[in-house]
Amino acid sequence: MFNKRVKIKELLASDETGQQVTVMGWVRTFRNNQFIALNDGSTNNNLQVVVELGFLDDATLKRLTTGASIKATGTVVASVGKGQKVEVKATTLEILGDCDAEKYPLQPKKHSLEFLREKAHLRFRTNTFGSVFRLRHALAFAVHQFFNQKGFVYLHTPIITSSDAEGAGEMFRVTTLPMDNPPKTEAGEIDYSEDFFGKSTNLTVSGQLEGELGAMAFSEIYTFGPTFRAENSNTTRHLAEFWMIEPEMAFHDIEDNMDLAEEFIQYLIRYAMEHNLEDLEFLDQRLAEEEKQKPVNERAEFGLIEKLKMVVDNKFERITYTEAIKILLDSPAYKKKKFKYEVGWGIDMQSEHERYLVEKHFKRPVIVTGYPAAIKAFYMRLNDNCEEGLQTVAAMDILAPGIGEIVGGSQREERLDKLEKRMGEMHIPLEEMSWYLDTRRFGSVPHAGFGLGFERMVQFVTGMGNIRDVIAFARTPKNCEF
Ligand code: 4AD
Ligand code: MG
Repeated sequence: MFNKRVKIKELLASDETGQQVTVMGWVRTFRNNQFIALNDGSTNNNLQVVVELGFLDDATLKRLTTGASIKATGTVVASVGKGQKVEVKATTLEILGDCDAEKYPLQPKKHSLEFLREKAHLRFRTNTFGSVFRLRHALAFAVHQFFNQKGFVYLHTPIITSSDAEGAGEMFRVTTLPMDNPPKTEAGEIDYSEDFFGKSTNLTVSGQLEGELGAMAFSEIYTFGPTFRAENSNTTRHLAEFWMIEPEMAFHDIEDNMDLAEEFIQYLIRYAMEHNLEDLEFLDQRLAEEEKQKPVNERAEFGLIEKLKMVVDNKFERITYTEAIKILLDSPAYKKKKFKYEVGWGIDMQSEHERYLVEKHFKRPVIVTGYPAAIKAFYMRLNDNCEEGLQTVAAMDILAPGIGEIVGGSQREERLDKLEKRMGEMHIPLEEMSWYLDTRRFGSVPHAGFGLGFERMVQFVTGMGNIRDVIAFARTPKNCEF
């Protein structure tokens, strides 16, 4: 019976009238004891369900409150009201679930994003989050479509690992040892040989290392899964649990890597514009209103859709790290001491630097290559012919306006001797990583890959300022609700 339901999006898309339909959803508003604005999450556009005066008894009318769920059957008729072509004239109406208007947190008015973050279990029912999460879905689908069309194999890399892919040590430990009284070794350290896996384990920070193993057989793979970082960063760009897409390609160098990443990002945006324009238009409008609240000099130069069009229509800027530092040193911002953090060759660029490059200087996405080896992960390929003290690696970061780093990637060090030497210098235990080094022992090939932070991509496409608003239930320091 329930599957006879028509989705509101479908119904509103056609102008056919006269047919009987059944619709279900949640009441957004109920006006004049006659007009129900009904939403089922398929679109932000509500269906108007009309109940004739006298059709429902008073007790039922009272139960038609914002948030209540209903099932209505009726005739599709042309709408006389503005805003929609058709509406449904109810012939039966059943309340599926009551909603106490006094207690329901979502009133039919504008709520702040901060308020809705605390009501994250209900916020999908708002227009903003309806649009954001339909777009998130569309982008996830597009990720698979993009790689599938290119013949990449979707590899499911493990969530629990015993290695630290990024070597940054920001990991969540996974253990079943009793915290109050863990077994100890003779040296007095916690004895992980008694732990569930017989060794120390953690939640993965990246699927890359396992991804590389896949690329050494399938040529091209991608991962798309949750990754975890225990970094204590309370910013609008960091989550402790985020989703990452990591393609890894044999027979690719850093140039091929950049080309693919650029094509990928443009594909995702184009997909969203083709399939979810209505939601983008809603968010564009929302952002424009938000911008109006800001002082003129802080407002974004472009609207959301305008910005997205520019990104798909123009090539990304490509510069080296050394050039980036030069631009920063020559910038008025630097000369007027506007940067909080220092600038100079060797620094790990801070988000203020990255944002200066993309938002002020280039005004478009920028790919930076050739970072100092000292600030990058062990697996990145050493560039040849570097000057003494200026050793760089074949790394590339993509910086996006309003976001900063959206992609991090590199060509990998495929030369066993160089890789072992670098790992030794960085105190990475070679024996434990023997499985990884096997790829360099047995048929090593030049290869490359990158990681796209999915939430940062969703932020970029939706224009949402805070990363907590593009993931269903955000995990951030001191916050793990729901
Ligand atoms: O630059 P990262 O750390 O690179 C890696 O993990 C590599 N293993 C990727 C690869 O080459 N396969 O992370 C990649 C991207 C960043 O550019 C950023 O978009 C996102 O992941 N990211 C985060 N997103 C949200 N919250 C965090 N805490 C993030 N840390 C990284
Ligand atoms: Mg990075």
